[in-house]
Amino acid sequence: MGDGKRPGVSGAARLAGVMGWPVKHSRSPRLHGYWLNKYGIDGLYAPMAVSPERLETALRALPALGFRGVNLTVPLKERALRLVDEADDTARRIGAVNTIIVDGDRLVGRNTDAFGFAENLRCQAPQWRADAGPALVVGAGGAARAVVAALQDLGVSDVRVVNRTATRAAALTHELGGIPWMWEERALAVEGVSLVVNTTTQGMAGSAPLDLPLDRLPAAAVVADIVYTPLITPLLAAAQARRHTIVDGLGMLIHQARPGFAAWFGVMPEADADLRALLLADLAA
Ligand code: ATR
Repeated sequence: MGDGKRPGVSGAARLAGVMGWPVKHSRSPRLHGYWLNKYGIDGLYAPMAVSPERLETALRALPALGFRGVNLTVPLKERALRLVDEADDTARRIGAVNTIIVDGDRLVGRNTDAFGFAENLRCQAPQWRADAGPALVVGAGGAARAVVAALQDLGVSDVRVVNRTATRAAALTHELGGIPWMWEERALAVEGVSLVVNTTTQGMAGSAPLDLPLDRLPAAAVVADIVYTPLITPLLAAAQARRHTIVDGLGMLIHQARPGFAAWFGVMPEADADLRALLLADLAA
């Protein structure tokens, strides 16, 4: 634990941060700051407002500035994939980089969103098994791509993708695999599945709830949402009322940050209850 007696960073501090445009809504500085303090690490994790046009300049400056790496958030993740010197298989499949590790003068891109989703699912629904049946992913944006990649890596053989705009579901499944379902048939698409995941913005504070009837969902199915404002979305509340195991979106946010922290600061951090409480208090503020 940090002893609180040596505030701030030294001249030898390890440097990392998050680039976004805007970046002021990012929770990552809080998250990484909590872990730096918890593990007593001499490090700094800075928020960096970088416009898309300046992303290349900003990324190329990282080795010169001695940064160990950065996270990327909206709207920079896809562009970052084209700018790194090397990208891992997951980042290429998802089409986006959310974590960069500086290796000498090279920028190595990774995508840890799939890991974050899978780890959170393992923690919040430990009884769920990849071979228990099909999974239904609602949405076809960047978040959906990460979830589909995660489910495939976990070994789910039938990943159903349903999206309001059918062409996007078709494009996603064409590229990544999975079976597109029509939006109009979404009430039927939950039949027989072991897992439902909302990756759309529906259910977020200020948006309408996701319109997905759960009547045909098997009793043992797990319901996950990647939205975490509010923590219990209307979809999760409806699932809870039907006694399904639910998986909230805050855990994915926490778990996706762990591999980057490990690469930059040398400790694989834990997703502990105090961190969840800190982020929840932050979201409520
Ligand atoms: P991200 O990359 O963060 O996932 P996105 O690409 O904007 O964000 O995707 C948002 C998802 O929410 C999409 O699947 C979108 O559906 P469309 O492809 O039809 O736009 C979905 N979405 C947004 N508003 C919606 C609504 N009112 N009803 C249903 N789906 C909605």
